[in-house]
Amino acid sequence: MSYSYQIGSLEQYHEAYRKSVEDPEGFWAEIARTFTWKKPWDKVLEWNFKEPNVKWFIGGQLNITENCLDRHLESKADQPAIIWESNDPNEHHRVLTYRRLHFKVCQFAWVLKNNGVKKGDRVCIYMGMVPELAIAVLACARIGAIHSVIFGGFSAQSIADRLQDAKAEYIITCDGAYRGNKTIPLKPVIDDALVTCPFVKTVIVHTRTRTPVSMIKGRDLWWEDEINRVETQGNPDFPAETMDAEDPLFILYTSGSTGKPKGVVHSSAGYMIYTNYSFVNVFQNKPGDVHFCTADIGWITGHSYIVYGPLSAGATSLMFEGIPTFPDAGRFWAIVDKYKVNILYTAPTAIRSLMVFGTDFVTPYKLDSLRVLGTVGEPINEEAWHWYDEQIGKKRCPIVDTWWQTETGGILISNLAGVTPAIPAHATLPLPGVQPVLVDENGKEVKGNGVSGNLCIKFPWPSIIRTTYGDHERCRTTYFATYENMYFTGDGALRDEKGNYRITGRVDDVLNVSGHRIGTAEVENAINMHYGVVESAVVGYPHEIKGQGIYAYVIYSGKREDEELIRKDISATVSRIIGPIAKPDKIQFVTGLPKTRSGKIMRRILRKIAEGELQNLGDTTTLLDPAVVEEIKTGKQ
Ligand code: WTA
Repeated sequence: MSYSYQIGSLEQYHEAYRKSVEDPEGFWAEIARTFTWKKPWDKVLEWNFKEPNVKWFIGGQLNITENCLDRHLESKADQPAIIWESNDPNEHHRVLTYRRLHFKVCQFAWVLKNNGVKKGDRVCIYMGMVPELAIAVLACARIGAIHSVIFGGFSAQSIADRLQDAKAEYIITCDGAYRGNKTIPLKPVIDDALVTCPFVKTVIVHTRTRTPVSMIKGRDLWWEDEINRVETQGNPDFPAETMDAEDPLFILYTSGSTGKPKGVVHSSAGYMIYTNYSFVNVFQNKPGDVHFCTADIGWITGHSYIVYGPLSAGATSLMFEGIPTFPDAGRFWAIVDKYKVNILYTAPTAIRSLMVFGTDFVTPYKLDSLRVLGTVGEPINEEAWHWYDEQIGKKRCPIVDTWWQTETGGILISNLAGVTPAIPAHATLPLPGVQPVLVDENGKEVKGNGVSGNLCIKFPWPSIIRTTYGDHERCRTTYFATYENMYFTGDGALRDEKGNYRITGRVDDVLNVSGHRIGTAEVENAINMHYGVVESAVVGYPHEIKGQGIYAYVIYSGKREDEELIRKDISATVSRIIGPIAKPDKIQFVTGLPKTRSGKIMRRILRKIAEGELQNLGDTTTLLDPAVVEEIKTGKQ
């Protein structure tokens, strides 16, 4: 397939951008027409950011899996859709051609149907990075069920919170997962979560590690047995459910500055069209390319650029089960050479963690198949950018610095590989269809170039968040109420003299730890649940590898004879409540927190201390008790 809407030059980019602003409906309709619809739409767009209410391709009907699978069967049935590389480099890799993937997805859709799953039901998926994860996701989409993938690093408590919020009655999991030299239990974590979720009817367990698991009669089923049952039924094609353009495709939970994680809801048609469009244009995918996105499908990057973007475009997507440092720090580069990867998409934190090992792990590899490099998840520092450019791209591969969010569904600001200019550590220009604005603290748009402000988007793009599951008001207050008639991203940005954007990071209380979004309030709530903790405050601080580390100030009422042990206990509690990814890097015991007279914690001061800027704390005279600051400074970790 060649893509009629693939932008090939800077002029074409400007032309497409101009058209997308002057006539957004015409612009997106032209692209949408190239997809497979069961029924065409009546109206392209209806929107307001007040409620908010955004609808794209109203009246249209389709199924995303017909676009990701069936429509490629004619010309690409034997082309690899998914190539899977195991955690263990000696285990045989797997290739699923489009024909094979289509077959497997249909088979598993029958499994879901046999077990009573219907259109609109929520299905939670908690698996390692095995092809069956992608198959499960697509089978849900085929039957019209709403999938909600939970990253394997979340705890039983986090899973239970999500199951309850989504009222999910079905779970698909694995016995365990391989990650480096570890075997991570998955089914036992689900079992713990289900203690508080009696409404879950069915758990389907795929065998990966063959570690012993409990299987409850009447509730738990083996994936393999269910497939056998389908095979004896005769294995026909599974007719794709008819979905309205705006029917929800999936829920993905993400952290914000307050409360528990919220379920970001994405639509069927708009999400499909935008992930496809951004995939084709940002990475400049060409027929036959091997696209390797190193993210986990538990995060939005995996949803959009391992599964839906590449497959809807008929590309070959490489899926890797393991970690970049196993068996050694050359693993990514070994994979690139083994499969002749053309496009590599990873995170700054992964690049930084590999830089530490030096180039000895890079030089044994040719890396000559690479054409495009990408990064996502956090601002990339210039040192990491140059290392990526020189050591991996050998200065011949454009780097796309892609800025986006779970809520945006796809990449919104990025250079287009080799088409629009790359600037180190800059996301650069908006994609066609995306209208960013910077606003000052009074909500006034900051016009012109060479300015900075809070990043907002003033016009809907097709894959914008539709709602937060079960609580539309929360969606409104979080994203659409801060500034009138704008979607607020929570990020700050600079716009240089030429109109290029540089994202400076979150302006709210959301941390970005190794590219994972973690709310400070969530971590505080978890710490406060620990025995003896009176109060806590969590801030981020610069961390050489993770980008940001988690620094916790804790008021502890019990005896602290062995402080190190109590720190470990507190970390264990955070691990149990949220998951290991939220464990504090540093814990400082304090007797008080700096508060204003109205009782608000002065995070600015805590952040400065955590950053080591002890001289520069600003005005502390408005504090209730300025003496606590001195104490905190002395005890800094
Ligand atoms: C940050 C990940 C700078 C940003 C796709 C955003 C970035 C948050 C970049 C979303 C980038 C993502 N440059 N910052 N290229 N990409 N971010 O929802 O703060 O996990 O708001 O989505 O990551 O994280 P999320």
